[in-house]
Amino acid sequence: MSLKNKKAIITGGGRGLGKATAIALAKEGIDVGITGRNEEVLKATTKELQALGVNATYAVFDVSVYEEVKTNIKKLIEALGTVDILVNNAGIASIGSFNEMEVSEWERTIQTNVMGLYYVTKEVLPYLIEKNEGDIFNVASTAGLNGNANISAYSASKFAVIGLSESLMKEVRKNNIRVITLTPSTIETDMTKDLGMIAGEDSEERVLQPEDFAELISSALKLPRRAMLKSAALWSTNPG
Ligand SMILES: NC(=O)c1ccc[n+]([C@@H]2O[C@H](COP(=O)([O-])OP(=O)(O)OC[C@H]3O[C@@H](n4cnc5c(N)ncnc54)[C@H](OP(=O)(O)O)[C@@H]3O)[C@@H](O)[C@H]2O)c1
Repeated sequence: MSLKNKKAIITGGGRGLGKATAIALAKEGIDVGITGRNEEVLKATTKELQALGVNATYAVFDVSVYEEVKTNIKKLIEALGTVDILVNNAGIASIGSFNEMEVSEWERTIQTNVMGLYYVTKEVLPYLIEKNEGDIFNVASTAGLNGNANISAYSASKFAVIGLSESLMKEVRKNNIRVITLTPSTIETDMTKDLGMIAGEDSEERVLQPEDFAELISSALKLPRRAMLKSAALWSTNPG
């Protein structure tokens, strides 16, 4: 299925999984609007996307603040002309024991990963319903399938993303909108490097790379419209 000239919004598209996804979609001829809080990073990625021959633009805002989301999603959609695809990728990880983690850090994790995803989706969804077509990818995690020690806030946020995502999928399937829940395991990005989850000089040989994640999204988009990837867990073949 040709994806050329479709319009996509990718939150957290300046770096990491979001950037790899933006590049993969641009290579398919999709115009892309990326978001994040760091303007320098967004500017640089937007230039890379434009060099691939598509219309690329960015918006600087914090997904956890509803008023900012409202204004900026509207601006992005105006700049793109419309929207067909949303990749809800922006997120933060917080690691720490249940008692030692500050209440504010717990709240920030939920506010960003859950409320941020909800706000963005709420602002994009009416456009997809109006055109009776669309694709929404919600990036959860293996941490949304199983709890683990020292990761309670992140895990709770990703369990919530899965619940939100599956509920929304059942609600808008009838509108020809595919809602896809992704639960990747460890992929090499700033997030996993900062958390010390990636080690070893030969890591690229065996650790999942952002391009692998992006390939999954491209492939899901190419399915005939009658078919929907409901959820997908991306694992590495041999993590060592
Ligand atoms: N890497 C993995 O192994 C892995 C595995 C499973 C799930 N995930 C999920 O995949 C997503 C992307 O992760 P990543 O590994 O690419 O992380 P990353 O390298 O840390 O990138 C996170 C992205 O989210 C954006 N972001 C964070 N907080 C934001 C906020 N409040 N408002 C707007 N943008 C915000 C960042 O942009 P700015 O800094 O410019 O704001 C950045 O682009 C996250 O939802 C993460 O939980 C990652």
